[in-house]
Amino acid sequence: MFVDIRAEVNPTIVADSTKLPESVGSGYDLVVWDPPHMCCGPKSNMAKSYGYHKTGEILSIVEGTGREAHRVTKPNALMALKWNDHDIRLQRIFDLLPHWEPLFGHLVKKGGSIGASHTFWAMLRRLE
Ligand SMILES: C[S@@+](CC[C@H](N)C(=O)[O-])C[C@H]1O[C@@H](n2cnc3c(N)ncnc32)[C@H](O)[C@@H]1O
Repeated sequence: MFVDIRAEVNPTIVADSTKLPESVGSGYDLVVWDPPHMCCGPKSNMAKSYGYHKTGEILSIVEGTGREAHRVTKPNALMALKWNDHDIRLQRIFDLLPHWEPLFGHLVKKGGSIGASHTFWAMLRRLE
């Protein structure tokens, strides 16, 4: 089940992940999530490829999607979360996901300079 708000990426269902329709179903045991993570300019290549989101909107997508992911998953479901902390620290994202417990993760270092942005993969477990 592939959900995205943009039809052009050919998801199974075009939907807002903060308000999942009933057709998405429930009882999933794994969520793989690559949310929007950066506010680039509205005319940037990033915006052209993935859509334009301001920081406040990104935070509310993360919070609302975490809540919906919790609603449609089974107890002890897992979530593989990709996050790039160029704009927003990973801990701030974990704080918006109170029903998901971070278990372990992997940092993919991009570039060697101080302040280079980092992409993380983290595994979280659904809490009751
Ligand atoms: C960082 S991109 C992920 C790109 C994806 N991994 C790929 O390779 O195509 C973030 C994606 O989240 C989608 N998105 C943004 N807001 C959304 C929402 N409220 N509900 C569902 N999808 C959303 C965007 O359309 C975009 O495709």
